Amino acid sequence: MSGHVSPYLVPGFYETALTRGRHRDIIGGRWDETGRIQMDMLLRLGLQPQHRVLDIGCGPLRTGCRLVPFLDPGNYWGTDLSGALMATGYRQELTEADRARLPEGQLVEDGNFDFPGLPRAFDLVLCFAVFTHLPLAHLGHGLRRVAERLDFGLFAFTVFLAPDAVAAARPYRQPDGVVTHGDRTPWHVLAEDVTRLAADAGLKVDFRDDRLPRGQVLCVAQR
Ligand SMILES: C[S@@+](CC[C@H](N)C(=O)[O-])C[C@H]1O[C@@H](n2cnc3c(N)ncnc32)[C@H](O)[C@@H]1O
Repeated sequence: MSGHVSPYLVPGFYETALTRGRHRDIIGGRWDETGRIQMDMLLRLGLQPQHRVLDIGCGPLRTGCRLVPFLDPGNYWGTDLSGALMATGYRQELTEADRARLPEGQLVEDGNFDFPGLPRAFDLVLCFAVFTHLPLAHLGHGLRRVAERLDFGLFAFTVFLAPDAVAAARPYRQPDGVVTHGDRTPWHVLAEDVTRLAADAGLKVDFRDDRLPRGQVLCVAQR
């Protein structure tokens, strides 16, 4: 795995895991707990059934399997680096009734924040537990792309934070135990860098106190 900025970029990573039926494990497991916490957080942000939601890096639909039955039919879109991972979630994690509410074409393979073929306007754009696997430059790229290519009410994303530059230069133990790094995955960043990169993209970001799995911090950005 060494030499890759993200475990998801290791050649054969998805194929091996999906062949072994491990689609839940490769996004960090804790399927029910994480899905429930993320859904509760979205409700606290004001999510309503008529909202149109884009879930960037949606994986096998850990949040999606809760959002699809909640949202009005057709109002959920997802992207992910791996189309196969999303397809596995679509087949195995959605009920038949859920699948009738989500055309499979609304799950779009995209590992570069290009959003090919997606509509421009969403009420809520999510990017949970994705930047935690990517270095700071990718966070800047993702924020710029979201700001340039999408219109949205709120953009909610998560990061791991280190408290200061000294701590950021070393491995840092997050509140519930995971150790993050400044030079490899899982990546931590400084709040001031997130604020600066968001401002460069024309966004203002708030850091929320919500407690998220593994000590991730919820960031909510608006224009
Ligand atoms: C830890 S999982 C989180 C999945 C989902 N957001 C959730 O919270 O349940 C990280 C996901 O990001 C996807 N991913 C990794 N790099 C990506 C990129 N550059 N663009 C889009 N998705 C990416 C992975 O395939 C994986 O599904």
